[in-house]
Amino acid sequence: MKVLHLSALFLPFVLGSSDFTVGVGKDENTGKKGLGFDPSSIVPAIGDFIVFEFRSGSHSAVQSTFENPCTPKDGGFNSGVQTVDDSLAVDAPGLPTVRLLVNDTQPIWFFDQAGGLCNKGAVLSVNPSATQTDAAFKANAANAVESNTTSSAPSSGPSGSASGSPSDSASRSASATGPDASQTGKPSGAERLIAGGAYGVVLLAVLCALV
Ligand SMILES: *[C@@H]1O[C@H](CO)[C@@H](O)[C@H](O)[C@H]1NC(C)=O
Ligand SMILES: *[C@@H]1O[C@H](CO)[C@@H](O)[C@H](O)[C@H]1NC(C)=O
Repeated sequence: MKVLHLSALFLPFVLGSSDFTVGVGKDENTGKKGLGFDPSSIVPAIGDFIVFEFRSGSHSAVQSTFENPCTPKDGGFNSGVQTVDDSLAVDAPGLPTVRLLVNDTQPIWFFDQAGGLCNKGAVLSVNPSATQTDAAFKANAANAVESNTTSSAPSSGPSGSASGSPSDSASRSASATGPDASQTGKPSGAERLIAGGAYGVVLLAVLCALV
């Protein structure tokens, strides 16, 4: 049994990597063409691939940071702008894809720069951690200054109902405090153990079927 469990830990290398397909320009709630990424949070393992699959319109998957979700990270990944005709169905075959290898278990953050609407939630979290959560990343995005898109806003107009909602200001102040003491994400040995355990179960099932 012990030998079996040990070998199960090495199974990921035997079985190879998995693809984590993420629709860009696809609403994860409705499954239709829309805003953001579907799904908007994934937990791939080392050696897996993120496969960005682009829907109608112009979209790009661009790496950003937890603190500034709507600003490209220096030297970060950029899929380039992918343009897909509006006539194509949401899950049409042959949509353009761009693959990205996952090299570690650190959190990685993305937004759809070409599609815009980062503030509205067009963001993707990869391997979010206990300290840098998917929810906090999305809150940061909602409050982020989007690079290049919101420059000359006419903010002087005194409109009678300028008071933001309570939750709005609350999340704003919450995300404003960002000590980056927690830059290095938690080592996710536990996740790997869980993955190994899952493979163990699979191996066990296979062995049982063979006997
Ligand atoms: C992982 O490494 C490959 C090869 O160096 C690189 O092309 C890729 O961008 C890296 N992935 C990430 C998420 O940085
Ligand atoms: C976007 O912002 C960056 C940094 O401020 C600037 O260098 C770049 O020229 C801007 N691009 C456009 C199209 O305004």
